[in-house]
Amino acid sequence: MSDPVACVIGWPIAHSRSPVIHRHWLKTLGIAGDYVARPVPPPEIAAFLADFANSGFVGGNVTVPHKEAAFAAAVERDEAAEALGAVNTLWLDGGRLHGGNTDAEGFLANLDENAPGWDWPGQAVVLGAGGAARAVIWSLVGRGFDPVLVFNRTASRAEALAERFGPTVRAAAWDAMPDALAEAQILVNTTSLGMTGQPPLELDLAAMRDEAVVNDLVYVPLETPLLAAARARGLAAVDGLGMLLHQAVPGFERWFGVRPTVTPELRALVVADLEQHR
Ligand code: ATR
Repeated sequence: MSDPVACVIGWPIAHSRSPVIHRHWLKTLGIAGDYVARPVPPPEIAAFLADFANSGFVGGNVTVPHKEAAFAAAVERDEAAEALGAVNTLWLDGGRLHGGNTDAEGFLANLDENAPGWDWPGQAVVLGAGGAARAVIWSLVGRGFDPVLVFNRTASRAEALAERFGPTVRAAAWDAMPDALAEAQILVNTTSLGMTGQPPLELDLAAMRDEAVVNDLVYVPLETPLLAAARARGLAAVDGLGMLLHQAVPGFERWFGVRPTVTPELRALVVADLEQHR
């Protein structure tokens, strides 16, 4: 049998760091196999997924804009994919396409690793209402945060998420932000604000509790203005790169049969890659 090859599917795909992560694990674990980036234009995604069993890949990751198409194409889906309405990990089982979503697992593992004890139940504040926000909100509800307040530029999207994820999740208006932050155990930014080339996210963190945790899902740059402000305020500040690294773990285990670990060496490798190819 030929060596297993997995892929990451997206459009565009050149920016994906997934090949760096998975190839590092293949190499360090001594596994014969490969992981490649596969650009698939939106008009071709349905046909590509329908014929995935004949693609030569054992499975793969799915990124923007194909996570919903992958959800629709998978004949079996895990609990997280069902909850989030999106699939970021594919694998074949008896020729049948299975879809999972590892974003929530990655989000939680990153905080568990970098801010132990962070999930002392309380109030959570989530900024943004896109795909990343879904995974974050579902994770926080699962860890018992109550309420989970969602702030978004477009209020209707926050309201839709509150509806989807139940009564402990509430859409909040921007003018409620100061009070929400003062009561929050955790603040998570899932918007693109603070990303290189985007406006910074400017929030006054002065009133936040001393034990509060601030997590930015943005990882370019690693130290966003929000995280710098959190650190200056003396709060635990967790960057978004760890979520990217941890969400890759379950897929690798499925395709290649060994559960890999997120090490400082892997992190340094991806940081170097980010600095080289911005
Ligand atoms: P993802 O899947 O990564 O979460 P997305 O669905 O495009 O990406 O969501 C991006 C989020 O960043 C949204 O919450 C978006 O707000 P809108 O729903 O109002 O579009 C938010 N966002 C992007 N640019 C923003 C800006 N300049 N100011 C405020 N919010 C912004």
